[in-house]
Amino acid sequence: MDIFQHKSAIKSYLQSFNNQLVGLVPTMGALHAGHLSLIEQSLKENDVTVISIFINPTQFNNAEDLKKYPRNLDKDLDTLRSLSNDIVVFCPEADEMYGDSLVSEKFDFDGLEFEMEGRFRTGHFDGVGTIVKKLFEAVDPDNAYFGEKDFQQLQIIRTLVKKHRIPVNIVGCPIKREENGLAMSSRNERLSPEQREKASMIYACLKDVRKEFGTKSALELEEWVIKYFDRQSLFSLEYFEIADEETLKKVKSIVPEKRYRAFIAVYANDIRLIDNIALN
Ligand code: PAJ
Repeated sequence: MDIFQHKSAIKSYLQSFNNQLVGLVPTMGALHAGHLSLIEQSLKENDVTVISIFINPTQFNNAEDLKKYPRNLDKDLDTLRSLSNDIVVFCPEADEMYGDSLVSEKFDFDGLEFEMEGRFRTGHFDGVGTIVKKLFEAVDPDNAYFGEKDFQQLQIIRTLVKKHRIPVNIVGCPIKREENGLAMSSRNERLSPEQREKASMIYACLKDVRKEFGTKSALELEEWVIKYFDRQSLFSLEYFEIADEETLKKVKSIVPEKRYRAFIAVYANDIRLIDNIALN
């Protein structure tokens, strides 16, 4: 397995894969089965798969969250080694990606950036856009893989490549869940055993919403979810929204030919969890 820390080195290495398909899976490490499902899809669809591991400081709006973000590069490299020999790892230091100024580019994502996560994590999507654009420049992939777990991020990356005419195919991949339904996330490592077990209520709630979608109005469902979380004290609801998949705008009235998703963010103490589900 080849490991690179510098853009110039990975760039020249990948040039030897002339006319072969390159897949990129950007990650922030602490790899779990969710990440691995993206990597496996890329391995199937490309000649070479690049996994980037970089905890991107500019997308953290909360210094404490950045400090506590799980880091274990050696373990991640072992996981990748056991997966395939056709993997290339790109794990740069911050100054390789940002030089001395750790600042984000400012993007216009047609308003997608102001919905949901954007309302609660100011500047987050400028940070994501900045690093993903830099990774695309360094690797120049044919295909890049992103999880539907971060559905808003996926739609924003699609807008990024369209607006900046970046020649890469964006592949959205389904959400991987733990046995109890909790969406896999690097942050799950920080949950207590009780929180991790009871966090199954988040997906259970989303499935109930899906069942009632079309019978109850979006407003009724929102009120129902607020009450559902009010009845317990382990998780506090930050937002719940039913939104149009394309615009990510909150649904006012349901149009049958449009696709809708329910989106949720909750806190377990200071640990933030997000999830979503397709409704139709
Ligand atoms: P990270 O949270 O490490 O996630 C890397 C990729 O794995 C993202 O595309 C994310 O949506 C996907 N992923 C995470 N959990 C998943 C799950 N349970 N099922 C399916 N896919 C899952 O997202 C980021 O990093 C960063 O914002 C990044 C894109 C790397 C830019 O810094």
